[in-house]
Amino acid sequence: MCDGREDDGCCLLFCIDDIAAMITRDRPVIVTAALPYVNGECHIGHLRTYVPADVFVRMLRKMGYDVLFVCGSDTHGTPIVLSAESEGVSPEEIVRRYHEHFRRVFSDLRVCFDYYGSTDDESNHRRTREIVEKLMERGYVYERKVMLAFCERCGRFLPDRYVEGVCPYCGERARGDECDQGCGRHLEPGEIREPVCKVCGSPAKFRERTHYYFRLSAFADFLLSFLKNLGGTANARNYAIEWVRRELKDWCITRDLKWGVRFPNRDDLVVYVWVDAPIGYISFTEEALKLKDSENWERRWREIWMENRATIIHFIGTDIIYHHCIFWPAMLKGAEYSLPSAVVASGMMTINGKPLSKSRGNVIWVADFIKRFHPDTLRYFLIAHSSHTKELDFSWEAFRTRVNNELLAILGNLAFRVLSFAHKHFGAEVPDGEIEDEVISYIIKTRDEAVNALFEYEFKRMTDSIMKLADFGNSYFQREEPWHLIKSDEKDRKRCGEIVKNTLQILKAVCVLLEPVMPSKMEELWKQLGMESDIHEVSMNEITIPLKSGQPLEKPEKLFKPVMS
Ligand code: 2FM
Ligand code: ZN
Repeated sequence: MCDGREDDGCCLLFCIDDIAAMITRDRPVIVTAALPYVNGECHIGHLRTYVPADVFVRMLRKMGYDVLFVCGSDTHGTPIVLSAESEGVSPEEIVRRYHEHFRRVFSDLRVCFDYYGSTDDESNHRRTREIVEKLMERGYVYERKVMLAFCERCGRFLPDRYVEGVCPYCGERARGDECDQGCGRHLEPGEIREPVCKVCGSPAKFRERTHYYFRLSAFADFLLSFLKNLGGTANARNYAIEWVRRELKDWCITRDLKWGVRFPNRDDLVVYVWVDAPIGYISFTEEALKLKDSENWERRWREIWMENRATIIHFIGTDIIYHHCIFWPAMLKGAEYSLPSAVVASGMMTINGKPLSKSRGNVIWVADFIKRFHPDTLRYFLIAHSSHTKELDFSWEAFRTRVNNELLAILGNLAFRVLSFAHKHFGAEVPDGEIEDEVISYIIKTRDEAVNALFEYEFKRMTDSIMKLADFGNSYFQREEPWHLIKSDEKDRKRCGEIVKNTLQILKAVCVLLEPVMPSKMEELWKQLGMESDIHEVSMNEITIPLKSGQPLEKPEKLFKPVMS
């Protein structure tokens, strides 16, 4: 068993590879986060996927994995066109406005993608056409006549969210593409009952129209064996297996819209947004690699997306498991692309126990939130308040409690107390002394717990372990009572220095381990510890490397402000 004391990192690599057999260092890891529809501002519910994905990526990088993190704006489909119509502007204008908005929010929140693209980029149009043509060549796409909702008043067919009505499965009110208020099922065009036009409110009639279908039903056996081995969270796997066992209907992959990716050889149809959106993962990888490695990008891209030589991990919300675990892998398989290795599905978010709803005003906009509170406190809350796959309820009281009782009372207190003590009694330098076995063992235990939790996508458990280390730092300092030793003889003063150094070492380890969760705040703390390296670049091996005696410490500043009730 390794004791984690070696500085070269080999012992750490060995331990972690034992734990995470699936994610290995000899393959690149591609992490994707579900693409936001850019038809409105970013609310805190969106962040339930992006923040954990960013934490995961930062943690993997600390462990030496080669990671590429991609995302982008979902720019097509009825969510965009309807918003454009209601605001009286073009879809291009809506997309431009909110694409920039999301980019800014991600940067403010320090969610750092290697590439943040747009599904309307030329490379995504090209890649989508190529994949659809391949599916057609291989016999997975066919024409079918369907009866679709048509609004006589507006003189148009009503795709997806243009129509509302009654779900044929559970009888609840539903949108044309999804039973969003009832059973949650994806609805195929023509399935909705009692259709009403969303634009003018008239009852719609059914009319015959020819569309193109993807032969999803041909993939049942493939999907069952694929899903059995799919990594990620059990909620995604189990939900999808249930679906495949119950039924697998073919998917209509064209829509009567002008805005979107043109269906090959048909100027009147675009592909369904759920075709070109996940293909964004592929084209954004291409763009990311072109920027990083203009010489070898093509070879690297092929290894990832054509040759199954990478670990592809999708971070999504539970509402889109069906699309990522069924439709998407079938499409990839049909077009002979690589398959995802894992799908990680976060539970949905509620506010004060109620579903987040823009129309009912139960929503908190991220841009407003971060005008009042530091973005890292929101990141911490999103990670620490609930397990990743469980529902996460936001309330101001819960936020206040997490910040005041954990960030201030445990972490902020540890940092300010020990740094102030070192300032006052040790000339603002790291004192001399050995790191004790008890301290090193606690740090290593925490690292192992954190890494184990990470690979189980249990980000709350990971963060709780790290906060327990901070708590241990506080109890160690309290138990050793260095303030009684400082004024005595030389021997006591030496012991006092050792205690301070050990507590600082705990703080250093906490800082490195928490950087993925609170990158800005840990950057501040790293500086206060007098470290000159870049906290975002340092490897996890740093946690056991003793602080240098005599290293100057910066003047301590309180890390967090209390949240008032
Ligand atoms: O549900 C949504 O918000 C979609 N915009 C997610 C797309 S994820 C991916 F497939 F592109
Ligand atoms: Zn339903």
